[in-house]
This record gives sequence, structure tokens and C-alpha cells, in this order.
Amino acid sequence: MRLILIGPPGAGKGTQAKCVCQGLRIPQISTGDMLREHKKNKTPLGVKAAEFMDKGLLVPDEVVLGMVEERLKLDDAQRGFLFDGFPRTVAQAENLEKILQKLGISLNAVVQIEVPDALLVERTVGRRTDKATGQIYHLKYNPPPPGADLLWRDDDKEETVLRRLKEFHAQTAPLIPFYETRGLLRRVDGVGELPAVTERLLAALKSSK
Ligand code: AP5
Repeated sequence: MRLILIGPPGAGKGTQAKCVCQGLRIPQISTGDMLREHKKNKTPLGVKAAEFMDKGLLVPDEVVLGMVEERLKLDDAQRGFLFDGFPRTVAQAENLEKILQKLGISLNAVVQIEVPDALLVERTVGRRTDKATGQIYHLKYNPPPPGADLLWRDDDKEETVLRRLKEFHAQTAPLIPFYETRGLLRRVDGVGELPAVTERLLAALKSSK
């Protein structure tokens, strides 16, 4: 299956992507994770991306598109993939269509995870990621085990989250009608216990081509 997860910061894309990808045996392609890896390794791409990420702004389309095109050529993506956090602008979505057309493949579904803005700041500010395993936790909703070595993301401070949320509404929300007109959009309520959200997501995928 070839899937996209869309949702604001903290909607649960990364958390749900891990469950879905394990079940479907497809790779999770998170442009956020890829950019953070570049940033950590201080590659030229990472240094450029950091200028935008640290302010809560989107990284320029051309930076992200080149990275995604290369990622899709890897062996594991030949059996399908789930994009988590990509595309994020209409220009990225239009370019993705061209890339997929060149490869002779198309998307099966685009799932929008819906969570009210009021819950998103608490979810992101309370997020911690296990440095060794990449497992995502929340200090209140999904507490990490004692002694885990945890990362608090640079862009998860409240002020930056609010900026990211603004970016989502201005730049990413237009993808919802974009994919709706293509008959690909599925909506999933992202509020509730983690397994309940996963169940809704899998049910939404059953109705996909
Ligand atoms: P990215 O890493 O993609 O961040 P994001 O889209 O803002 O999403 P998040 O990772 O914050 O949240 P999520 O939806 O994955 O939620 P999670 O599952 O962790 O992007 C970061 C930055 O990189 C961007 O700002 C931009 O600068 C750049 N970037 C990336 N891609 C780009 C692109 N394509 N173009 C341009 N720039 C790009 O969950 C969040 C928390 O909530 C966790 O603590 C979790 O435990 C908890 N939680 C999850 N589900 C539930 C639930 N049901 N109930 C209670 N708590 C829950």
C-alpha cells in the first residue's frame, strides 16, 4: 500500500505510523525524522533545514523533494510506503504526483488525523522520544519507562508549537481539498486511547483501493 498521513503537529502521525507500518510491512517515511537526522549529523542539508525547523517554519520544498525522491528509490519502498508529514504544501503534493507518475505507481489513500487545536500543545510539549529506540512517549498519556534516556525535541517548546500549528493551517490544510477531489481522502478521529485510534485508522484503510 502507498499511503499518506496528514495532521497537525501532535495529531499522532508518528505514533500511528509505527503501528500501521508494522502491520502492513511497509516503511514509514517521515520527512521530519529524516531532517532531524541530517540536522544531528550537521550535513549541509541539515544545517539549512535547522534554520527553518528551529523557528517552527516549513523547510523549503526543493530541499524536501530531493530527499524524498532519493528515499523512494530504496529497495524497501518498492513494496509500498507510508509518508508521515509529507507532503506539506500543495507544491510538494503536485511534485509527488509527478514523481509517482514517473515511477508508474499511485497512492492508495490519504488519511487525515483530526485533533482539535486545543489538545495539540499539551500533546507536543509533553512528548518525549526514547533516544535509543525512537519510541514516542507522552509524560501524561503514554508515560516512558523509568530510566529511559529521553529526548525533548527542540521544536516542542510551546512558542514553536504555536508557530508550527499556524504553518499547518496556512500551508498544509489546503491538501485536504486537494486529495478530497482525487477521491483519496479518509478522515479519522484522532482523539481517544492510542489503540482505538489505530483501529479507526485501519478501518478507514479497508475502504481504500
Ligand atoms: P515533523 O517531525 O513531521 O513534525 P509534525 O508534523 O509537526 O508532527 P509531530 O511529529 O509534532 O507530531 P505527530 O503527529 O507525529 O505526533 P506524535 O505521534 O509524535 O516535522 C518537524 C519539522 O520538520 C517541521 O516543523 C518542518 O520544519 C520540518 N518538516 C518536516 N517535514 C517537512 C516537509 N514535508 N516540508 C517542509 N518541512 C518539513 O504524537 C505527539 C504526542 O502526542 C506524543 O507525545 C504522543 O505520545 C501523544 N499522543 C499521540 N496520540 C495520542 C492520543 N491518541 N492520545 C493522547 N496522546 C497521544
